[in-house]
Amino acid sequence: MNPSPEEIRIGLIGFGTVGQGVGQYLQERADALTRAAGRRLVLGGVAVRDLSRRRTVDLPPGLLTADPWKLVRDPGLPLLCELAGGTEDPRAWTAEALRLGKTVVTANKALLCDHGEELFALAHEHGGRILFEASVAGGIPVIEVLRDSLAANRVERILGILNGTSNYILTRMEQDGLSFGEVLESARANGFVEADESLDLDGWDAAHKTVLLAWLTQGRWVSTGSMTVEGIRRVRLDDLRYAREMGYRIKLIGAVERVGTAGRLALSVRPSLVPLDTLLADVDGVFNAVRIDADLAGPLDLIGRGAGQDPTASAVLADLVAAARQWESSTPLPVHLAPPDPPELAAPAEQEHAAYLRLTVVDRSGVLSEVAGSLSRAGISIASVLQREHGGHDRATLVLLTHRCTQAALDEAVRALAADESVGDDFLVCPILD
Ligand code: NDP
Ligand code: HSE
Repeated sequence: MNPSPEEIRIGLIGFGTVGQGVGQYLQERADALTRAAGRRLVLGGVAVRDLSRRRTVDLPPGLLTADPWKLVRDPGLPLLCELAGGTEDPRAWTAEALRLGKTVVTANKALLCDHGEELFALAHEHGGRILFEASVAGGIPVIEVLRDSLAANRVERILGILNGTSNYILTRMEQDGLSFGEVLESARANGFVEADESLDLDGWDAAHKTVLLAWLTQGRWVSTGSMTVEGIRRVRLDDLRYAREMGYRIKLIGAVERVGTAGRLALSVRPSLVPLDTLLADVDGVFNAVRIDADLAGPLDLIGRGAGQDPTASAVLADLVAAARQWESSTPLPVHLAPPDPPELAAPAEQEHAAYLRLTVVDRSGVLSEVAGSLSRAGISIASVLQREHGGHDRATLVLLTHRCTQAALDEAVRALAADESVGDDFLVCPILD
């Protein structure tokens, strides 16, 4: 298991988009990486599913195998790099590697979101390590910033544009005047959308990343089942236009917030109205951004490429270098900024924000007062109303901005509106960020 002092041999599982990027630069930039790591990082084996598939990056002969377990169990490969994707096989490989005391580098946010608690405990128990810079926001070094650079801070809030595909779709809709369906077709054609489209379109990929950011900064693993997760499918081109008229843009935001006087923890992924004069509002296309409100350092904005071969490989390579640098250290890599008492989760009644509601209603007298009544009964005060013609003959679009209200009140109002026959189920509700 002990490597020679001169080199560390890597077992790489996955030689697809990210794996080939890592393989390419491990070879092409070997000297620079050796200088950074203090020793050579050498590919000792590469596992794929289909040995006959043509690869764009060449490997020295004899490295490829279709058996990932061979790499996991090989004591001559003390550094395992998991770039296969999925959760069940990677969970088994990672757990076994950690039991063997290996260091694991992964870009797999779904794996860590679902099984991170168990895997980090195993790492701790067996003296192994897990590094995961590439799993959140691709090429942006947000994990290192949170874990190391902001180690002395309490992080009060993180807001992130964490899914490049959603941001690309919203940006193209707005810039090119296209519908969600039209942009989705072109995103599919360009290979931007995950094979499981729900990860990108329904907010789950951003939720996995949000959970990791919450664990890093608040020390609590939150299941995606106990947070609000909504993707971009309900956002219409008109919403983007109305939002802009009112001084906002709509972005899919993953939020980690301490709320209320007790400072409880709230996590969400939702299309959100972001004020035009903030940096987040200017982040377009496949770019990601993370806004961190830290108590000592103050507000910090990180913007960069959240996906793609080179940016993601850059983050994986940074982890491989970090692992090699600290190889002999007996101090476990600090894994998070956990406060001694992780916060409890906030109830919807403790979460407050102003909101944007766009409703499609039957165009007849009295409907506006019905809608206002539903909001008022839930205790929500309306800040402004806009009524627009709708494409359909007997329909109108109502856009309402509310004053600050609780999420519980908003949920109650939305339930009442959804049950109202004058209001169709084609509606959008978004928080408005401060
Ligand atoms: P790809 O689908 O391009 O590549 C996956 C690779 O893993 C392929 O080489 C595949 O083999 C191999 N593989 C999959 N299952 C097995 C298995 N059971 N046994 C052996 N090999 C296997 O995925 P990506 O490179 O895009 O993503 C890799 C990871 O990085 C994922 O966790 C993803 O979420 C994460 N990530 C990806 C980003 C991106 O921009 N692509 C950005 C940030 C994170 P074969 O080629 O033979 O099919
Ligand atoms: N599908 C993800 C995205 C890939 O669009 O951001 C990077 O995690």
